[in-house]
Amino acid sequence: NDGRLIDSFGRVHNNLRISVTDRCNIRCVYCMPETVEFMPRASLLSFEEIERFVRVAASLGIDKIRLTGGEPLVRHDLPLLVDRIAAIPGIKDIGLTTNGLLLAPMAGELWDAGLRRINVSLDTMDPAKFLELTRRTGFEQVIEGIHAAKAVGFHPVKINAIAIKGVTEEDTVPLARFARAHDLELRFIEYMPLDVANHWERDKVLLAAEILDLLTQGIGPLQPAPNQDPRAPAVDYDYEDGKGRVGLIASVSRPFCMSCNRIRLTADGKLRNCLFALEESDIRALLRGNATDAAIARVLRESVAGKWEGHEINTSRFIKPERLMHSIGG
Ligand code: GTP
Ligand code: 5AD
Ligand code: SF4
Repeated sequence: NDGRLIDSFGRVHNNLRISVTDRCNIRCVYCMPETVEFMPRASLLSFEEIERFVRVAASLGIDKIRLTGGEPLVRHDLPLLVDRIAAIPGIKDIGLTTNGLLLAPMAGELWDAGLRRINVSLDTMDPAKFLELTRRTGFEQVIEGIHAAKAVGFHPVKINAIAIKGVTEEDTVPLARFARAHDLELRFIEYMPLDVANHWERDKVLLAAEILDLLTQGIGPLQPAPNQDPRAPAVDYDYEDGKGRVGLIASVSRPFCMSCNRIRLTADGKLRNCLFALEESDIRALLRGNATDAAIARVLRESVAGKWEGHEINTSRFIKPERLMHSIGG
């Protein structure tokens, strides 16, 4: 091929998700155990190392970066990394996925560094339920973070809400009301089998179609949005009254693997060609072992070339990756 990252199914990869830490300041029950052994500091890639990798990736057609965690804002000086990445030729778009707790005081600095897209994870509008789901306080800070992001210019601010049957049904409509009232783009994510406690079962996935029903009953009719990006994970719906849009990320009931354009770098420098990948490529060893840019590019190409067709959640072959969600970054 022409040097771009194209896999054996013809999928062009232009989107790199970088986890900058496996640490988090909350403990969502579906994502992280209460106590966990975090990566030792020395095993985390430095900003210099991340920057170098992004340069190589950009030379192969990566133009979209998303910073994730754990919680990316607990990594010190994150705006400095944004600044470095924004300066790399070819990088057109930098996003952040955050739990929002530390966002309010940092939103302006992140914007100034060149960040342009923010997705905030928020599963409920009920502070007591927030405490139950995250095992921490901080609901008000998240709401402040969302408003602060809007105020400094991020638009749209997206809200990610997990959809778990028997757990989040009653949160659906209040979240949608909040999003409509504040011009936020709300997206519901079907619960995926990456949870820490092996609590996931097919019956616990609150399906996209069921969420649509809840929204239709609780708020009003919706219709598929025009001009959707076929490579985005969410399928978007507009409220028929014209007030807002909601996205459904149906990773389980309607996998979007055939249009996948993503690769992932973990905080300890391992390259994953799928959220559910069972094997990783050791980029850190190359970065720290005097490898040339060409050698790093080769490993990147090989990783993409070896990518499978897609996750196997809906088959009996499914194997859950060893790495937990908080150290992949979603
Ligand atoms: P945008 O650039 O705004 O579209 O971001 P995004 O939706 O790709 O990123 P975000 O971090 O907000 O992810 C939202 C949800 O989609 C998370 O639960 C992710 O785990 C899930 N997701 C993101 N990428 C993939 C993917 O490649 N495969 C699957 N199955 N789920 C994904
Ligand atoms: N299934 C689906 N989404 C999940 N997230 C974390 N764990 C899971 C899971 N098991 C979501 C978070 C966050 C995003 C990065 O991933 O809620 O919004
Ligand atoms: Fe932290 Fe995100 Fe996991 Fe919640 S889902 S515990 S915010 S890493």
